[in-house]
This record gives sequence, C-alpha cells and structure tokens, in this order.
Amino acid sequence: MKIAVLGTGMVGKALAERIAGLGHEVTVGARDAASESLNPFKEIAGVATADFATAGADAEIVINATNGLHSLEALAAAGNLGGKVVLDVANELDASGGMPPKPLAGPDNSLARKIQEAFPAARVVKSLNTMNCNIMVDPSLVPGDHVVFVSGDDGAAKAAVTGLLREFGWRDEQIIDLGGIDSAASAEMMMSIWLRVMMARGGFTAGPFNFAINAA
Ligand SMILES: NC(=O)c1ccc[n+]([C@@H]2O[C@H](COP(=O)([O-])OP(=O)(O)OC[C@H]3O[C@@H](n4cnc5c(N)ncnc54)[C@H](OP(=O)(O)O)[C@@H]3O)[C@@H](O)[C@H]2O)c1
Repeated sequence: MKIAVLGTGMVGKALAERIAGLGHEVTVGARDAASESLNPFKEIAGVATADFATAGADAEIVINATNGLHSLEALAAAGNLGGKVVLDVANELDASGGMPPKPLAGPDNSLARKIQEAFPAARVVKSLNTMNCNIMVDPSLVPGDHVVFVSGDDGAAKAAVTGLLREFGWRDEQIIDLGGIDSAASAEMMMSIWLRVMMARGGFTAGPFNFAINAA
C-alpha cells in the first residue's frame, strides 16, 4: 500500500519506520521538502520524504501525525483528500499554560470531526491517539488486553485502518470500534487523564502504559 505519513515528530518517525518495515511504500511529509525536520527519515530504508502535497498525492492512506493545533493547515496542504482514508492520530493540545497541556477536545468538539467537516470527501478515521507512539506500532510493549479505539463514519475506511492495526500487532479483542466520527471526541478527551497518569507515573520517562477495559 502507498501510505503518506504527514508529520516529522516522534510519532511520524515511529509510524514511518514500522510501516516501511512491514513492506509498504511510505512517504513522510513536512511543510517544505527541504525541511531539516525530514533529515532523520532519509536514513530509513523504504521511506521517501517530500512536502505535504507530494506525500499525499497518490497515497491510499494519509496519516495525520502533525501538531494537532496545525493539522487542518497541514491537511489542506496535502492536496485532494477526496476518497482517501485519513487516519488521524493527532491530539489538539494547548501547552501554553505549562504541564499538563490542556486537550482542546470536548463532547462536541474533536479534531477528527473538524477534519471530516473540512474535507467532507475524505474518509476520516480516528485511532491510536490515546497512547505513546511506541505502543501504537508495537502493542506487545504493554502486557495484556490493553486497547486501541477506532472512530469513523466510513466502514470500509475503518476496515482499512483496522487491517493496518493488525499488521502492527493489535489483536481483534484489543480493537474497540467506538462508532462514528463524533465518537472521536471521547477518545480525544482521554488525553486529559492520559497526561495525568503519565505525570503520576513519573513524567515523560515513565515506562509504557495503556488503557485496558476489564469486564466480567
Ligand atoms: N508523542 C506521542 O507519543 C503521541 C501520542 C499520541 C498522539 N500524539 C499526537 O501526534 C501528533 C504528532 O506528535 P509529534 O510529537 O510527533 O509531533 P509534533 O511536534 O506535535 O508535530 C510535528 C509536525 O507538525 C508540523 N507542524 C507544526 N506546525 C505546523 C504548522 N503551522 N503548519 C503545518 N504543519 C505544522 C511539523 O511540520 P514540519 O516538519 O514542517 O516542521 C511536523 O511535521 C500530535 O498531534 C500529538 O499530539 C503524540
């Protein structure tokens, strides 16, 4: 599959490395093809680098791993998203007040829904935003049936994303379909508790952890 990873931070790196390792064709996008932010990707086998527009041009799946406060601009630069699966892993966090950053998501406000509204012909799926990026691509880092959520209006797009999750190593019993794109608000609001748990566990150096659902 041709997959564009928009975003050059730690999330973009974890995803690009893993997806290329699985044998997919990966292009990582930044605002400018000459951006220094793309340099670490030039050493990864199977990964090409480009600006957002070129990266998104012929991708079947476009992954939004950009700063959530600027994701709409990044996706607008990615060209025509019509018909494409857009996997949104970003969170809109306001770090201006120090730690912990404040998630901007609320019951009727999510980045994923804003993306779907801004690009109505795109097939937006929210997933993977509720955990550290190393766990996104290697769920075996955390023991047990910890979970990943999936939200989106397009069933086929959710199936495509679920297929990618399985390739990462997620088992079916760990994948929870929350429903339509409006349900992404719940997953995005989870960042509030995730950040508090991370701080309670010692901050950014805390070992890997994730949410699990225990049921009778
Ligand atoms: N860190 C985690 O483990 C984790 C876990 C779950 C979700 N997330 C979410 O994943 C996303 C990526 O996180 P990250 O830490 O890897 O990267 P980040 O630093 O949040 O974002 C880096 C990317 O954002 C782009 N960007 C910044 N300002 C922009 C603007 N004004 N217009 C367009 N693009 C802009 C940058 O483009 P250039 O390359 O051109 O500079 C870069 O590609 C975030 O939304 C984060 O909240 C992170």
